Amino acid sequence: MFGKKPEPCIMVIFGASGDLTYRKLIPALYDLVADDLLPAEFAMIGFARKPKTNESFRQEMRSAVEEFSRRKPIDERIWERFARALHYQQGDYSNPDDYRVLCQRLEAIDRAHGSGGNRLYYLATPPEVYNTIIEHVGTILCPEREGSWARIIVEKPFGHDLASARALNEHLHRWFREDQIYRIDHYLGKETVQNILVFRFANGIFEPIWDRRYVDHVQITVAETIGIGNRGSYYEHAGVIRDIMQNHMLQLVALTAMEPPAEFTADAVRNEKVKVLKALRVDTSRGDGTVRGQYGPGVVNGQFVPGYTQEEGVAPDSTTETYLAMKLLIENWRWAGVPFYVRSGKRLPKRVTEIAIQFKMPPLLLFSQRTASEIQPNLLVLNIQPDEGISLRFGAKVPGSGENIQPVVMDFKYGASFKVPAPDAYERLLLDAMLGDGTLFTRSDEVEAAWALITPVIERWKAGEGSFIELYRAGTWGPKQADDFIAADGRAWRKL
Ligand SMILES: NC(=O)c1ccc[n+]([C@@H]2O[C@H](COP(=O)([O-])OP(=O)(O)OC[C@H]3O[C@@H](n4cnc5c(N)ncnc54)[C@H](OP(=O)(O)O)[C@@H]3O)[C@@H](O)[C@H]2O)c1
Repeated sequence: MFGKKPEPCIMVIFGASGDLTYRKLIPALYDLVADDLLPAEFAMIGFARKPKTNESFRQEMRSAVEEFSRRKPIDERIWERFARALHYQQGDYSNPDDYRVLCQRLEAIDRAHGSGGNRLYYLATPPEVYNTIIEHVGTILCPEREGSWARIIVEKPFGHDLASARALNEHLHRWFREDQIYRIDHYLGKETVQNILVFRFANGIFEPIWDRRYVDHVQITVAETIGIGNRGSYYEHAGVIRDIMQNHMLQLVALTAMEPPAEFTADAVRNEKVKVLKALRVDTSRGDGTVRGQYGPGVVNGQFVPGYTQEEGVAPDSTTETYLAMKLLIENWRWAGVPFYVRSGKRLPKRVTEIAIQFKMPPLLLFSQRTASEIQPNLLVLNIQPDEGISLRFGAKVPGSGENIQPVVMDFKYGASFKVPAPDAYERLLLDAMLGDGTLFTRSDEVEAAWALITPVIERWKAGEGSFIELYRAGTWGPKQADDFIAADGRAWRKL
């Protein structure tokens, strides 16, 4: 699936006893080894407080691979090789002595595996512990030594508002240069998200009409059927605005709206995304440009589910939003006057992420009033998940003598055209970080530009201004106010 193999290195995962390591990181590393994409000298060491031996850690990670790898069943030969590269060290995140021991272990692994002193640090703990780990890695584990590299991957959430994101950036920059820092937004590792750029810039027919002259509006939907599971206490402080809008949604907006970069390099791509994020504003000409909702009890996929405030870890009087719709405007020459309506929610009827570009209507003078009223605008839909593909809607004449026109759809489906399953986003991102390619990671100015847009919205809500929380039944498409919100512009949400 990829080209180059990275140089030998040791990956150090902080918080390796957690869910992310189990479900995503270790299965992704195993799949990379199985695809022969990692060097033979690669090694990994997990660091966390829970006591484990190398052996018990390997046993647990075997179950992780069995359950979550793309390849089933596990291949014993590959597993044996992979397991030998896995190590574990128990330690306290704030105890310098534990980092000194880790340092010695890393040097011993270097000698045994020939990993050459290169380090990839991964922060897979809750964000409360990021600062102390960064500081200890920076002061004790020697960020970069002559002839070797050190990089650090930071998981989301990156800050909880503009001030905290800036503070985290400053803290990281005390020990790491920007090109050593890899901020993960796993959406960017998805094949279909990367394909937005390929679709736009490797095809000649779409780019000329990709602007305010031809596009009426854009709708982006990130809909989930799941609730909050056992992440209640995290979600209470996040809501959709921090969980989806500030990161995944704004990334989708930026990729859809950005100018073509001068070259396909990390900085050129990110420069163009930052320009979009800086030109974005929430349309506050009517209210605060948002509709907030929270799910009540209801039926999803035929099953009764409790309301948000009945979930574990949620306050009975919680005002956290589980649904959010916003109207965004991009103040630049390409997009002036074209609204980007974005919506995301939990416990909606269907799991779907898509970008729909609706084009302006042609002049319909040719057709009778009745026929003209049946004609629907052209629509281009980029399906990100779960049915990855692209579809184009246009009007066609119904066979027969009349003048009837019906919308028809031209469909491209990844699964049907490319028979191989797409690799998991984490495979791509881990490999890119090892290769030193930051294109699919967010840069400090990008994260701050996203927070600069989102923070005032959160502050207005906190001050009791702006939209109120509206209840919606689980299994429906959000509160009725969201329909009224877009209808006020003479438009409607797509029925999915
Ligand atoms: N899980 C996912 O699918 C996912 C997806 C996207 C982003 N993320 C992000 O990735 C990071 C890790 O996620 P996760 O789901 O693996 O988290 P997790 O299971 O809650 O925590 C990972 C590990 O961190 C340590 N830890 C937990 N709470 C701590 C605390 N208050 N102080 C110090 N250490 C603590 C624990 O290890 P010890 O007790 O053994 O030290 C735990 O096993 C988080 O920042 C999360 O937001 C996760």
